[in-house]
Amino acid sequence: MSAQLIDGKVVAESVYEDVKRRITQLADRGVTPGLAAVLVGEDPASATYVRSKAKMCKKLGLYSDVITLPVDTTHDELVHLVHELNKNPKIHGILVQSPLPPHIDEPAITLEIDPRKDVDGFHPHNVGLMLIGKPGLLPCTPYGIIKMLEYYKLDPAGKEVVVVGRSNIVGKPIAGMLVQKADMANATVTIAHSRTKDLREVTLRGDILIAAIGRAGIIAADMVKQGAIVIDVGINRIDDPNAKKGYRIVGDVDFEACSAVASHITPVPGGVGRMTIAMLMSNTVDAAEQIAS
Ligand code: GUN
Repeated sequence: MSAQLIDGKVVAESVYEDVKRRITQLADRGVTPGLAAVLVGEDPASATYVRSKAKMCKKLGLYSDVITLPVDTTHDELVHLVHELNKNPKIHGILVQSPLPPHIDEPAITLEIDPRKDVDGFHPHNVGLMLIGKPGLLPCTPYGIIKMLEYYKLDPAGKEVVVVGRSNIVGKPIAGMLVQKADMANATVTIAHSRTKDLREVTLRGDILIAAIGRAGIIAADMVKQGAIVIDVGINRIDDPNAKKGYRIVGDVDFEACSAVASHITPVPGGVGRMTIAMLMSNTVDAAEQIAS
């Protein structure tokens, strides 16, 4: 058996169609949604992410402001900038690119962002709303995973979902979202992580297996239940002397081998990564709609 591909490009395109329609409606009311992306330091991967976010804003007709700060920016200087962005009427979404340099207290910075402009969905206010099943801004990668399942009509209700990874960005929020009493949720969720004793025994239970642990190819074919839906969130750089850049990007899942066991599978690249940026654009439009209402 060969799994059906869950194509991030196709699902992201459907999100962009909706985003464009809502941008036009906001334009009729004189509102242009605006996103500020803040980059501290020169981490090359972060710089690439921020550039691609700005590029997508431009393509969709959103206002975007990329603020690049030196690596020795102080915590207080960053707090001051966030407060300015909170007040700026042209900005509806604020994204402070992670990771920040070690002298900056990242969770404390998140707390300074106006929750209405928290398009990452990382502020405890939005995390809390999500957990109690109330509307708020949802974190982009987990939200993107739900959109993928929805597009392919793969309802998680009643299914065993195994999430591998417990990060605040993906593992914990996707588990929180899928366990809700709501559409595209109602799943039985297990979270496995680096200290799980017998990972294979746990992953084999998953009708839906979500790999978000950041280890290249850790999910092997013998860890996947026959006919499972496999969602690969990993974005890992591995050395490849044959590649132009000297490396290539692979997921947490051994794609070739797992495709023979799964019913559906996301590729890397071209899978979940495409959704993260699409949902960031969608959240920025959501935030603009809420603030303008
Ligand atoms: N770094 C890696 N992923 C993300 C993300 O989704 N948001 C932010 N702010 N930083 C990140």
